[in-house]
Amino acid sequence: MRALIAAGGHATRLRPITYTINKHIIPLANKPMIFNAIEKLAGVGVKEIFINVNPGEQEMQRYVGDGSEWGVKIHYIEQSGGPKGLAHIIKNAEPYLRGEPFIFYLGDNIILGSLQRFVERFERDGLDCLLAFARVKDPSRFGVAVIENGKLIRVEEKPINPKSDLAQTGIYLYNDSIFDAVNKIEPSSRGEYEISDANTYLITSGRRVGWEEITGWWKDTGKPEDLLEGNQLLLDEFITTSKNDAMVGPDVVIQGRVSIGKGTVIWDNVLIRGPVIIGENAVIKNSYIGPYSSIGNNCTIENTEIEHSIVLEHANINADTRIVDSIIGKNAIIRSAKSSLPLGHKLVVGDNSQVEI
Ligand code: G1P
Repeated sequence: MRALIAAGGHATRLRPITYTINKHIIPLANKPMIFNAIEKLAGVGVKEIFINVNPGEQEMQRYVGDGSEWGVKIHYIEQSGGPKGLAHIIKNAEPYLRGEPFIFYLGDNIILGSLQRFVERFERDGLDCLLAFARVKDPSRFGVAVIENGKLIRVEEKPINPKSDLAQTGIYLYNDSIFDAVNKIEPSSRGEYEISDANTYLITSGRRVGWEEITGWWKDTGKPEDLLEGNQLLLDEFITTSKNDAMVGPDVVIQGRVSIGKGTVIWDNVLIRGPVIIGENAVIKNSYIGPYSSIGNNCTIENTEIEHSIVLEHANINADTRIVDSIIGKNAIIRSAKSSLPLGHKLVVGDNSQVEI
């Protein structure tokens, strides 16, 4: 099996972070989101992965490379004309994928557990398509399964009145019949070639479409708090205690699972309460790092309490206060205004930033 990962789009609701970084490489638990997809695919023996990117993308290639790190071969496909829907991504990739079944994986989805059972079911039952659904509280934001008499009869994209709470997740297994579907469907009212319409086409044209229900699924739905939730999920799942070659002073207290990268220096009255990950070459001094925080490489944190937050690399924080539920971008500087007159908050805030004072 081969794989196609969707990693384009503009993620406007995650600005300003996504002005400078493709959403799919925003780090969660200090790892670019898309690495989770690649690991899952490599884990079921996929050897060749095509990543769909926006025209002109270069950053993804720089972060992900040629796949050798995971023992796979990665190729990049630019989506001609830019984002036009998930089914359009498959349409665009047809020349590369024809002839062998493939897993279509949405790069902003995180699935806990292996994909093995999906691959086995697809092969064992000789399916044309296998869909993975998860139960959600807010189905209207997703493609939603319509099930009658125990049979999947269609998938409705973001319905106002959802017929079930089963949301289509970011895992799809297809054979060549999907190319008929994506070439037959018309754009939806929002002007996109919808993956739900392609799946419905397969069902109604008599193809063998199976589905599985999964748990342990997280999707970035586009808001900062969603990223914090994804970060929390991954820290909960994967963080183990490790200190590498970090220098940890005698007055540092570490509680719970905390992973510290090499070259990091932690000293002078620090409490870290896991699960927490701290990257390489960071400096933490006189601070509290609370649960569900991911601190990137080369960050400096002094005189600050921080909890349930994502701090990207090279950020420099000396805030003299408590920071919670925050996402702090690369090279950001946050410092206390207490010693510089006039007193007051002094802000250089980029377009589309959000600050709660
Ligand atoms: C897309 C699909 C939707 C699916 C979701 C899963 O939605 O259109 O059917 O449920 O991915 O991640 P979007 O990310 O475009 O809102």
